[in-house]
Amino acid sequence: MVRREGCVYAYHDACPHYGDTTLPWRQDAYLDPSGEHIMCAAHGALFEISTGRCVSGPCEGQYLTSMPVYINDADEVVVTLNGTDSQIRSDSSS
Ligand code: FES
Repeated sequence: MVRREGCVYAYHDACPHYGDTTLPWRQDAYLDPSGEHIMCAAHGALFEISTGRCVSGPCEGQYLTSMPVYINDADEVVVTLNGTDSQIRSDSSS
């Protein structure tokens, strides 16, 4: 899950070109050094935060799998996992 300019984006933690390979090199390290893209730490592929589209790397043109996410009336960020809403963060401003 990435917050950017008032929006929240959520994607499955798996590269589109290599099955269940997770993206970060350590826990919660999903962005490249510039903070402008989601990055696959294993191969350096870069993905647009707002769309999940790979713009550089072995899966260029493919997309991360997005997940439905919304902010509820209590200002909590909620993501739907396997058809069930799960509260990920208690405050949407953080
Ligand atoms: S596993 Fe696909 S770019 Fe790294």
